[in-house]
Amino acid sequence: MVQTLALNETLKNRSVLSLMEWSPAEIQRVLYTARVMKQEPRSPSFRHALEGQHIALIFELPSTRTRVSFQVAIESLGAQAVVFEWNQSQLGRGEPIKDAARVMSRYVSGVIARVKSHDTLQEWQKWAGCPIFNALTNRMHPFQALADVMTVWEKFGYMSGLKLAYVGDGNNMANSLLVLGAKLGIDVWIAAPSGYQPPLDLVRWAQQEAQLTGAGVHITEDAQLAATNADVVVTDVFSSMADDPSSADTKRAVMAPYQVNAKLMALTKSEAIFLHCLPAHRGEEVTDEVLEGPQSAVFDEAENRLWVQKSVLYHVLADSSAVLGG
Ligand code: CP
Repeated sequence: MVQTLALNETLKNRSVLSLMEWSPAEIQRVLYTARVMKQEPRSPSFRHALEGQHIALIFELPSTRTRVSFQVAIESLGAQAVVFEWNQSQLGRGEPIKDAARVMSRYVSGVIARVKSHDTLQEWQKWAGCPIFNALTNRMHPFQALADVMTVWEKFGYMSGLKLAYVGDGNNMANSLLVLGAKLGIDVWIAAPSGYQPPLDLVRWAQQEAQLTGAGVHITEDAQLAATNADVVVTDVFSSMADDPSSADTKRAVMAPYQVNAKLMALTKSEAIFLHCLPAHRGEEVTDEVLEGPQSAVFDEAENRLWVQKSVLYHVLADSSAVLGG
């Protein structure tokens, strides 16, 4: 038990923008703590870990899961969440991030932000004197990917060597799964149409990282090839929040052959699971039959947002003096 409570000093005060800079051991450590937290939800061990701290949650885009799960995680660690909307603050009226970031970090010990552009989040990190946590940008959704791999680990008992097929828009979820797959030795296949695949710089980075972990990195236009013998199938909406609304119909038409349906799932291994970060558009990127079917693990996946976020906040922000056995 003491081992599970021990803080990992290398994670202290680290930001989470993409997890590209985190080592496999650091990622495994937060996943392990997340599972301990989930197994012992009423344990007093973590209740006071962030006592006296305030953590800001800023939203430039809508959210259900991220907002609630972060707020619950913060408060269950003994801290207080300060939640506000971008457009109802001076940020929405054009206050420079370099000013807001320096001010906010005088008040709070961490800033969790959902912003349209990844560049905006990098600007926050540049100027803030406290850790910044990515609650979704156009490029990355790291906490969702952490919840996904935690769900995979729970279902299979291991992660390395499993075949994970992401089918659909090569968006922030595809990018984040490439990152974590490369870190954790997962055989990641991204099936997306030409023009909607992950950026080349990220694919090259994942290929390099995969050499250290034995992971696979495959980018294809062939959804059937990706799904064949897959252990995990993942998709996401065809048109994301940050996309230009005028291109949504064109994009949906291009994406239509990438729907996850019973025919596609029939190509996977018999014990394969289906993941979707939600919210889903039933009948578009996934059929109701798959989403509600026996292979679907989407609600475990959604729950795991809470545990991975609680674990990361604990390792990044807790003082060892506030942690039992720390
Ligand atoms: N999966 C996810 O990020 O959900 P929300 O948009 O509801 O936060």
